[in-house]
Amino acid sequence: MERLLLCLALFSMASYAMLCPKRCTCQNLLPSYTVLCAKTGLLFVPPNIDRQTAELRLMDNFITTLRHQDFANMSSLIHLTLSRNTISQIQPYAFADLQDLHALHLDANRLTVLDDTHLQGLVNLRHLILSNNQLHSISDGAFQDFLETLEDLDLSYNNLVDVPWDTIAMLASVNTLSLDHNLIEFVPEGIFSNLHKLARLDMTSNKLKKIPPDPLFLRIPVYAKMKGSPLTALVLSFGGNPLHCNCELVWLRRLTREDDLETCASPRDLAEPAHGFLLCVLLI
Ligand SMILES: *[C@@H]1O[C@H](CO)[C@@H](O)[C@H](O)[C@H]1NC(C)=O
Repeated sequence: MERLLLCLALFSMASYAMLCPKRCTCQNLLPSYTVLCAKTGLLFVPPNIDRQTAELRLMDNFITTLRHQDFANMSSLIHLTLSRNTISQIQPYAFADLQDLHALHLDANRLTVLDDTHLQGLVNLRHLILSNNQLHSISDGAFQDFLETLEDLDLSYNNLVDVPWDTIAMLASVNTLSLDHNLIEFVPEGIFSNLHKLARLDMTSNKLKKIPPDPLFLRIPVYAKMKGSPLTALVLSFGGNPLHCNCELVWLRRLTREDDLETCASPRDLAEPAHGFLLCVLLI
């Protein structure tokens, strides 16, 4: 009997080991099963990954395409890292079975476009990291399945001229929004007004000439006065934009740190921001 049990134990260990893809490291730290295949020269997602995997790390490889079968039936996957590959294509519904996924890291790849099908099915997504790609277009429905759950959206270092603002305005749980180092020219007025959990908004180094007032920004002085309050202050970063320093920007000048506005791109005779704002104060 003892021998039979031992045989069974060995057999089950062997069958588990067989599910670990070549050159990868697999850890079965119950209840979570982790597959680590970083820097292993992979050209595609290995087909024989255990479907019960909770954490899958595939960073620093040469994967170019994500296909639906790559992540099919991985309904226990919580964390997926695909950073620093050469991914330029995500096939429609590639992530459709990942209903438990909390974090998706796709930074430092070659993505150019996100449409409604690419991220569909990620109904529990909290962290979406898409920095350092070549994104120039994101459809209005691209984030539709995680509007309520998303806490952290990083779209920094892309080629975005336009952002799906109406979608951004619906990210009810968003805490950190990184849109810095893009080519954004325009922010619609009041677009952040329903983002009650927003704590960090980074719009550094874009092409903004003006920033319309937003009810969200009124929180800053209120929070600053309530010392020791559990609510954290909103951190806004708008430096590195060719801001036109007219009276429309006085509100921002009052609210943000001095160093954040740096210099104004125009008007030229008021390039020293303090003078421009002084003039506004006199006019009011
Ligand atoms: C996923 O599950 C379905 C239904 O159980 C099965 O037919 C299919 O082969 C599975 N696919 C993979 C890649 O495991």
